[in-house]
Amino acid sequence: MKKVEYPIDKREWHPSLIPGPVVLISTYNPRKEPNIAPKSWLQMVSFRPPILMFSGTKGNTTEENILATECFGVNFVDSSMAAKVFECVRWFGAERIQKLGLTLFEASKINAPLVQECKAHLECQLHGVQEVGSGFVVFGEIVAGSIWEEVLKVDREKRYELLDLIVFLEDGLFARIDKALRI
Ligand SMILES: Cc1cc2nc3c(=O)[nH]c(=O)nc-3n(C[C@H](O)[C@H](O)[C@H](O)COP(=O)(O)O)c2cc1C
Repeated sequence: MKKVEYPIDKREWHPSLIPGPVVLISTYNPRKEPNIAPKSWLQMVSFRPPILMFSGTKGNTTEENILATECFGVNFVDSSMAAKVFECVRWFGAERIQKLGLTLFEASKINAPLVQECKAHLECQLHGVQEVGSGFVVFGEIVAGSIWEEVLKVDREKRYELLDLIVFLEDGLFARIDKALRI
């Protein structure tokens, strides 16, 4: 297997070497106006307490809202929502929510909305933030989770097919995680 040089700039990766799950981060501002934004730089950090992180952008609405309310929802996007989610960043705030045509409801344990059309959600309490290079990393402790009940009624492998998570590959390209393979 002959290897050739590959760029170190992620934006030049075709194919992407680090695909990330596509989620909608949902927040309120201090006036309780909702906001949702797609993110794909998302990862678990700790089992106990359960902490996840996403790398965001300093000064964007999502990050400002999280600093103000100390809460955020993580809503997992499926393939049926992919096209709308990829293009929604053309709009901002209430207009984005309206163009996406999504329904928001109150989270159970945190001061943030959740996205009804998503099949799974994690509710997070802000643990801390860390600026890393151009990134603004947000750490959230998972305090509640919920999932479409039908997913839990089928065999383990089949659950991925129903959940239909997607990962961001590069601009305009995503992949489905719909086929779990047992070792
Ligand atoms: C599929 C997809 C994934 C994205 N992932 C991230 C991400 O991981 N981190 C980030 O800072 N921005 C990401 N973005 C860009 C933000 O969603 C975009 O800057 C958005 O306008 C931020 O919205 P807000 O200002 O309402 O928070 C992504 C966009 C798309 C379409």
